[in-house]
Order: sequence, then C-alpha cells, then structure tokens
Amino acid sequence: MTTAAGRWDRLIRNVHLATFTGDQEYGQLRHGAVALVADRIAWVGRETDLPAEFDCDEQIDGQGQWLLPGFIDCHTHLVFAGNRADEFAMRLAGASYEEIARAGGGIASTVAATRAASVDQLVAAARPRLAALMAEGVTGIEVKSGYGLSLEAERQMLLAATQLRDEFGISMQRTFLGAHALPPEYQGDADGYIDYLCLEVLPALAAEGLVDAVDGFCESIAFSPEQIRRVFEAARALDLPVKLHAEQLSNQHGSALVASFDGLSADHLEYLDGDGIAAMANAGTTAVLLPGAYYFLKETKQPPLAQLRQEQVAIALASDANPGSSPIFSLLLMLNLACTLWGMTPAEALAGITRNGAKALGWQGRCGTIEVGKRADLLLWPIDTPAQLAYQVGALRPSQIWIGGELRKDRL
Ligand code: NIG
Ligand code: FE
Repeated sequence: MTTAAGRWDRLIRNVHLATFTGDQEYGQLRHGAVALVADRIAWVGRETDLPAEFDCDEQIDGQGQWLLPGFIDCHTHLVFAGNRADEFAMRLAGASYEEIARAGGGIASTVAATRAASVDQLVAAARPRLAALMAEGVTGIEVKSGYGLSLEAERQMLLAATQLRDEFGISMQRTFLGAHALPPEYQGDADGYIDYLCLEVLPALAAEGLVDAVDGFCESIAFSPEQIRRVFEAARALDLPVKLHAEQLSNQHGSALVASFDGLSADHLEYLDGDGIAAMANAGTTAVLLPGAYYFLKETKQPPLAQLRQEQVAIALASDANPGSSPIFSLLLMLNLACTLWGMTPAEALAGITRNGAKALGWQGRCGTIEVGKRADLLLWPIDTPAQLAYQVGALRPSQIWIGGELRKDRL
C-alpha cells in the first residue's frame, strides 16, 4: 500500500512518539511522524526520515505534543443498573465485601436491579461511563455480562454492550460472565446452574453472535475451580477464548486453571503464588492487575509484581469499572494507583493500558502499539513526558483522538 514515495491519507508530524515497541522506555521516538492510510498506520519514523516525495491529503502539525496508542481498558463491568452506595457505607462501618456478599448483598443486589432494567435503560446508564473512559483516551474496551445470570437477562446486557459499541464506534470485546455469582433461583444448586450455563445460556448467546470471550469468578464466595473448568470446556467447544477472575480474595489456583486452557488473562491476582505465575508464564497468559478494586476494597495484600516481572509475564492494568469493587471510570487514575500503591513504573503502567492491554484481549496483532499495519487508534497528548499521565490526577485530556484513522471531532 505504501511505497517510498508514499500515498497517504493523513500525516501527523511534529510529534514525539510513544510507540510501546522496541527497547526504549515507552518505545519513544522523538521528533517523529506517523502516516495513515484508511484505518491503518502506514508509516512510522523520524520526521527527518520521511521520504523526499509523498502524496498526502492532509498534514497535521502535532506542535511537539506526544502521540500514544489508544488506550485499552481490558476488564470492565460497564453495563449494570443501580448503584451500591449503601454497601459502601456498610463497608466504611466495618463490614467486609465477602460478608456483604454472603448476606445476599453485593453482586446479587446489582443482579436484581439489572434484571429489572430494559436494554435501553442499561444503555442509558452505561453511556456516561463509556463517554468518561473514552474522553481520557480509551479506544478499545472489554465489557462483561454477569449481572443478569439468566439467558434473558444476560442477553439484555450483551445487547446493551453491542449497542454501545456501535453507537460510540469503539473496539469492544463482549465477554460472557454467567459464572459471576449464583442467582437466587439456583441457591443450593451451583452445579445445576453451571449445567444451565454450559448447556443452554452460553451456546444460545454464542449462536446469536453476542459473545467474544468467556470469563468466570473463581472464589470461595463464587465458583470452584471444578465448576469453572466446566465453563471453560463449554467455551472451548464453541471456540471462544477464556479468562478468569482469579486469586482476588484467596488463592484458589484459578490462574493455573485458566493458563491450562491457554487463557487470555488471569485478573486481580493479589493472592497469586509461584506455581500460578509459572503456569501463566508458560502459557503466555497476561496478568491483568486491577488497582481500583485493590484501593476501593482497602485490600492490603499486594499482587506479586516482582515475581511477575521476573518470570516476564505481560502485565496489563484495567479499571474493573463496576458498581461494587471499583466504581471508578478513569483509566488514567489506574496508572497513578498502580504506581503509588504497588511501585509500578510509569512506563510499566502505560504499557499495561496499551501493548499489554491489547494482549490481554488477544488483540496484539491489531492495536496497542504504534506500528505499521496496526489500527490507527491514536491519542495526541499535551504533555512534556509520558510519565505525566501516571503522575497527574485530573485536568488531563487528549487534545486529539483518532479511532480507526478518523479524527473524533466530538472528543467525547
Ligand atoms: O471484578 N470479583 C468479582 N467481580 C467484580 C465485582 C463485581 C461486583 O462487586 O459487582 C470485580 O471485582
Ligand atoms: Fe471484574
């Protein structure tokens, strides 16, 4: 498509690039330029290395700002009804997340509200949440079901997610999280509920084209590894990739389980042990760390960052946006939390919402870096150094956002 004498649609020049490729911190390339053809990146390099002749419809002067890949929020529960402010107050008064869940609150209360909502109401509730994330540069997102817990209500959630995807023109992975909690009608029969998910709900929703991946919650207050294994086998039969909420509140060895299914990611991971890390490293399963939930639940056990680094497990960060454990709709804030609470470097944190965020969704061939052939999902930031994005809280917005090569004039 591109020759030395290029024929390009757009050329963004006079920018510093954070490509998230190669060995340099941030993959930085100062005084760079990026050319686009249709929705793809067609040329990346130093401004001084631009070909002597090229044909280009539009040139954009980046005025010395930084150009980054669009951000990927690879773990969200964006679609839900109601809120859990009352539960927040109970936790402040001393109740734990697990106690509230065991007493029938927690996820179950959001399930009741979500079941009572229409698709239009779910879309209306989620719209400002998605707009807030995108205004900070999110161009790719994962959205889970899991507050419906019946065929009809899970379908409503996935239809709402699909409608939001199309309305906002964002890349989205829609993840089936039927195995999130036990619905009231199956109390005392978790195995029966897993049968229902595997034999009825998942096959039907997959056949309707509403499911891109499958997740579960492996925890003492949720499902056992054996129950999750059955969900993963059903996903495998449908050729759907898997991921898992694992080792959030205790070590159930869910990470090794998801790795044994060549899973995309294991998420949360505060209680992850060495065997789990080794299994993830072997399988190439990404570690998705969720500092919002760690912070909001006042968790004190830190995820094993040093060992993950040592075993070279790719580390992604996500918002985990949800009404119970992380009602926080800011991916930039996650950068700051991961650095201040766990000692991640700004470069690691930013790689976690770009290159490694894409990997966590199986999108590494498609986005997450600035490279020829990748989708032109790009952010222009009025900053002096990429570290500023992890350092500053508030009052930071991209000055331009391109999604699939198109300038988002609304800037959301
Ligand atoms: O990722 N851990 C389970 N699921 C969500 C929380 C869901 C909720 O509390 O509503 C999480 O933290
Ligand atoms: Fe989650």
